[in-house]
Amino acid sequence: MGKNTLTITDNRTGKTYEIPIAYGTYPTYGAYIKTADLRQIRVSDDDFGLMGYDPSFGNTASCRSAITFIDGERGILRYRGYPIEQLAERSTYLETAYLILYGELPTRQELDAWTAEVTHHTLIHESIKKFLDGFHHDAHPMGMLIGTVGALSTFYPEAKEIHDAATRRKQIVRLIAKTPTIAAFAYRHMRGLPYAYPDNDLSYTGNFLNMLFKTTELKYAPDPVLERALEVLFILHADHEQNCSSTAMRTIGSSHADPYSALAGAAGGLYGPLHGGANEQVLRMLQQIGSKDRVPAYIKRVKDGEVLLMGFGHRVYKNYDPRATIIKKIADQVFQVTGTNPLLDIALELERIALQEDYFITRRLYPNVDFYSGIIYQAMGFPVEMFPVLFAVPRTSGWMAQWEEMLTDPEQRISRPRQVYTGADVRDYVPMEQRGGARVA
Ligand code: ACO
Repeated sequence: MGKNTLTITDNRTGKTYEIPIAYGTYPTYGAYIKTADLRQIRVSDDDFGLMGYDPSFGNTASCRSAITFIDGERGILRYRGYPIEQLAERSTYLETAYLILYGELPTRQELDAWTAEVTHHTLIHESIKKFLDGFHHDAHPMGMLIGTVGALSTFYPEAKEIHDAATRRKQIVRLIAKTPTIAAFAYRHMRGLPYAYPDNDLSYTGNFLNMLFKTTELKYAPDPVLERALEVLFILHADHEQNCSSTAMRTIGSSHADPYSALAGAAGGLYGPLHGGANEQVLRMLQQIGSKDRVPAYIKRVKDGEVLLMGFGHRVYKNYDPRATIIKKIADQVFQVTGTNPLLDIALELERIALQEDYFITRRLYPNVDFYSGIIYQAMGFPVEMFPVLFAVPRTSGWMAQWEEMLTDPEQRISRPRQVYTGADVRDYVPMEQRGGARVA
């Protein structure tokens, strides 16, 4: 192999530049140049210099990160080097959250201490309930989650001390502990049910089910199959490197805002139908299709560009999303407890037809994590509005890990992209009486 540099000749000036090429862990995946090195390429002394133009960051790394690795071509996802399949099979959500946050699997002692710490913080201040009570009965629970998480910053003003490692850790624990409580309370509010308080004897997901579904029983006993299925779903959703919401978390956090405000923003990014809101849209799409025999007509509409096939396609995966494969497997276990979801047949038929169609093959569109998760959530008794909330709860650990990594990375400064200005050149102010008729519709 030759030198790790890139030689660029600027044909405007005939000058040649040599720019270093650097690497991440894998030389064949993640070679990069620093776009700041392009700035020296200029035609004159007063020229700003060359920039990279990359709308939506299709080919621009915004950070160096050691948390999650994705190879979208080969359908690989790893947290801190551990394959997602192994974690889904053998880990728990809290153990995975620890791994994502601190880089290593915890020892027994570390895991016990971590679990006790998170469990200790599951309660929310009673006044927070008043915020939830203020929402209309039909308020979307994701809106309630975003608003209430943002409001938490007013309860923990010390969270602003983002340069203090111990304070950061405290907020990380609080957020991982309290998002399930807020999510469950939002659900209870939506249903008009009294809030069910955390039960610290239960596991993280067992307690979440308790806060959601407990009725009059003295002690709620989660179904072990559903508890484990939720655990696996939470592991799969814990992090996914620099997606829209993690980028929002990092961007807002880079201004040194407190983590509650940043996380509310990240959750807002997740809410959109092109990101974590897709699972809700998948269910609505399946309901709208209604039966297997109507699938071909829907696929035709997708191909005609009228609608998207929700739950298909991904910016990074150009292969099966490995999370979708795992989710498909756990669906069977869940359905043995809950009974099958009739929408599964429609989803399977959609996938079968889509994967044979040229439109999807040439664009390399495969099912993503959201395609099957909603079918499971619905079978477990969740209303569709809760689906993005069920994504946000476990993603909290990933957002916090991305936030922590960003703040402790000496190369990171406030996030502030450049633009390519395409507007009017400088011109003089025109007095009102000289402006003529309407020119803007
Ligand atoms: N249905 C139909 N066509 C699609 C779909 C889809 N779901 N996804 C992409 N395409 C088409 C686009 O129209 C485009 O076609 P064209 O080249 O003829 O214009 C081509 O495939 C490339 O798609 P882009 O939109 O350029 O891909 P991008 O990387 O920007 O978008 C995204 C990725 C947003 C996920 C997209 O695939 C999509 O909208 N999917 C549906 C929503 C969804 O499931 N989101 C969840 C993603 S997973 C997550 O966030 C947790």
